[in-house]
Amino acid sequence: MLKGAADMKFSIEHFGKTSEDEDVMEYTIENRNGTKLTLISYGAAIRGIEMPNGTDVVLGYDRIEDYENQDKYMGATVGRCANRIGGGCFSLNGKEYVLAKNNGPNHLHGGIVGFDKKVWKSSIEGQRVVFRLTSPDGDEGYPGNLDVEISYGLTNNNAVVIDCTAVCDKDTVVNITNHTYFNLAGGGTIEDHYLTINSDEFTEIDETGCSSGKLSHVKGTPFDFTKRKLIGKDIDADCVQIKNASGYDHNYVFKDRHDAEILKAAEAGCGEIAMDVWTDQPGMHFYSGNFLDGEVRGKNGAVYGRRSGFALETQDWPDAVNHEDFPSVVLKKGEVYKRKTVFKFKKMLK
Ligand code: BGC
Repeated sequence: MLKGAADMKFSIEHFGKTSEDEDVMEYTIENRNGTKLTLISYGAAIRGIEMPNGTDVVLGYDRIEDYENQDKYMGATVGRCANRIGGGCFSLNGKEYVLAKNNGPNHLHGGIVGFDKKVWKSSIEGQRVVFRLTSPDGDEGYPGNLDVEISYGLTNNNAVVIDCTAVCDKDTVVNITNHTYFNLAGGGTIEDHYLTINSDEFTEIDETGCSSGKLSHVKGTPFDFTKRKLIGKDIDADCVQIKNASGYDHNYVFKDRHDAEILKAAEAGCGEIAMDVWTDQPGMHFYSGNFLDGEVRGKNGAVYGRRSGFALETQDWPDAVNHEDFPSVVLKKGEVYKRKTVFKFKKMLK
């Protein structure tokens, strides 16, 4: 049961056919205020979040071909293991698993045909849109048949609620996130957005963008968002961690939050609109859209240039499978992986 989700209006349309002739469906949920959440079954992705004033605060594409031919993970559900796995390999129960190296020397976001590139089964169930996927044993090199369910709901106080569960018939690794790019002004650079992140430590990256294994305190660094700060203020600072990613592309840690009640992770705002992020995940990767390159045409002909969207990817710590002191991403056979993230929209306080 989703609290505060009575009277939603649901609609379904055919979004298109993939190059493999699979039907992709589009769902829209509209609440009492006229806020609309639009989802597609390709990648179980968020394609639009339209505020009552008509501002669409997320990036996306109008054509299925553009979703198929991009590597930006636009709005998508990312898995089986989000973020980087160093060297594209890990060992589990004494066995070495070799994955695709699709990001320099590393494996990124579940591989070449990750969850973002699959057509999920979809349905409306109660007040939610539910997407289901079975990732077969050996899919992109990962062990075990993994059944994943993502459900999206919208409430009348403008919260987009994402629940995820997964279960596997062998021990495996799982780290699932949503990769929506937000632009709360509906366009332009995200450097003039304010951001607060309720964390004072992040996992450092090496020059390939992968976890070095070290945690770093934000105090006195460009990474300090403990108090509201413009994203653009220190984004080009002369600092190795910033240079390694051409901006922010780092995981903030919530040390005591694993399996806890959901807590507020971040708040962002620009113009009239602000958004709170709540999660029970132990980390949140803040990516400032440094590699958006303006090549693909966005919704209504928009060109998504560098830093035209930012992602707050609630997730486990990157490359945790290769760092024993990071919270474990191993999902044991038969155990249930269960995570929740809420993006709640409200008026920006000046
Ligand atoms: C990664 C970026 C990557 C982007 C899109 C982010 O989550 O951390 O480095 O460019 O996804 O691929």
